[in-house]
Amino acid sequence: MKKNGKELNKILVIHGPNLNLLGKREPDIYGETTLDEINNRLKTVGEQKGIFIETFQSNYEGAIVEKIQETIGRYSGLIINPAAYTHTSIAIRDALALLDIPVIEIHLSNIYQREPFRHKSMITEVVTAQIAGFGAYGYTLALEGIVMLIQK
Ligand code: DQA
Repeated sequence: MKKNGKELNKILVIHGPNLNLLGKREPDIYGETTLDEINNRLKTVGEQKGIFIETFQSNYEGAIVEKIQETIGRYSGLIINPAAYTHTSIAIRDALALLDIPVIEIHLSNIYQREPFRHKSMITEVVTAQIAGFGAYGYTLALEGIVMLIQK
């Protein structure tokens, strides 16, 4: 896949705090699928589409900011679940606002049906699209969606 002479074949997936414990963490809300299973599924689907998927998880806000900055000029799309930082992090929002590639915000749960403090996302205004409430399947939807946006 090429656009403006650039190879458009790398997508970064960033997972925020506590998502390393998926499968064990509040499974009634977040499901029983582990983060490894989500990442492996993304890599398999990516391979079928000829796209390289890199995944990254951190419990640290600054590490996530640095990883977002690394996408500049290196990736053709970003899928991010900032987890609890969704609701608090101006630093992550500002880093995302720098990017000129499609960015999908994803949440396993439907944040708008949960506690009021989860209804506000700091990043929605600076991303391309949001997916929430589909559980682990949302990541597959995000990949489908971002490939469509990149090819547009
Ligand atoms: C989450 C929703 C957030 O409110 C929460 O802090 C998370 C996960 C989700 O995927 O549903 O850690 O982003």
